[in-house]
Amino acid sequence: MTSQKITRVGIVGAGQMGAGIAEVCARAQADVLVYESTRDLLSAGRARILSSLDRGVSSGKLTERERDQAADRLTFTSDLNDFADRQLVCEAVVEDEAVKTAIFTDLDKIVDDPHAVLASNTSSIAIMKLATATQSAARVIGLHFFNPVPVLPLVELVTTPVTAPEVTARAETFAHDVLGKQVIRSADRSGFVVNALLVPYLLSAIRMVESRFSTVEDIDRAMMLGCAHPMGPLKLADLVGLDTVKAIADKMHEEFDEPLYAPPPLLVQMVTSGRLGKKAGHGFYEYERVLAGKR
Ligand code: 3HC
Repeated sequence: MTSQKITRVGIVGAGQMGAGIAEVCARAQADVLVYESTRDLLSAGRARILSSLDRGVSSGKLTERERDQAADRLTFTSDLNDFADRQLVCEAVVEDEAVKTAIFTDLDKIVDDPHAVLASNTSSIAIMKLATATQSAARVIGLHFFNPVPVLPLVELVTTPVTAPEVTARAETFAHDVLGKQVIRSADRSGFVVNALLVPYLLSAIRMVESRFSTVEDIDRAMMLGCAHPMGPLKLADLVGLDTVKAIADKMHEEFDEPLYAPPPLLVQMVTSGRLGKKAGHGFYEYERVLAGKR
């Protein structure tokens, strides 16, 4: 039944994006099954979601009862075969094409419902590449959320020429009507709309630091005070994760062959040395690490 309401959701990956997507789905009354490959990653993911739900209570957005009900709707597994009965699966693992295509090949075999939505939260890998890793490309779609997922209202919806119209309709209805997100459409081009605009801006800010044009703090203050951005580009790069910024830039550079998208040496060095941003405890700024096993 294609028009059946989506109530059983699966999230693959419980890093910052997967955890955020799982949280908003659970808060929207869905039964959410979260997959991570190891027990340690699963328990870090669970802690990440619970701590964000607690934050919802302390900021007055959730009652304690709503937090507990959302937590009760979440279950965790390290066996992808448990996704057989899911009506919508959203993959949110590391931005690596080989890892993502392998997951789509597996999900395609595991998820029974021929009308299930198999979505990816990728920001730079072609949805068509993920679709062709399956035997049922019509089920595959891009649903790209923004960090922090509980706060930012946008979802980019990305179809391929072979995505089934009913899969598109189900995915859009779920994102808009169930999760309460605003949906925009993008072509299946690396970066979609937001990152195609955002990533060159972040890379330009990193090049400014590299060339000692200004300091990290002043560049961020400039964009906050001069353009009313909620955070400056270097703090935002730290929030996104410098490894993720680099991975997206690499993919966009590969697709468009534009120097604008080439990761600057400073970014490459920071990633190589493990300065991955907020999740690692340090990037352009220093952070307190809250959760063990954060990725
Ligand atoms: N989870 C849940 N709620 C959160 C949160 C989180 N991780 N982080 C912040 N919030 C909530 C707070 O509870 C607070 O709610 P309230 O106003 O009801 O009290 C509200 O958001 C504001 O938070 P703070 O007061 O702590 O801090 P700020 O006012 O500085 O806001 C921010 C923090 C929401 C992160 C804001 O700075 C912001 O929106 N920054 C821009 C983020 C952005 O551009 N994200 C997109 C990145 S690109 C991306 O994700 C795509 C990917 O493919 C790369």
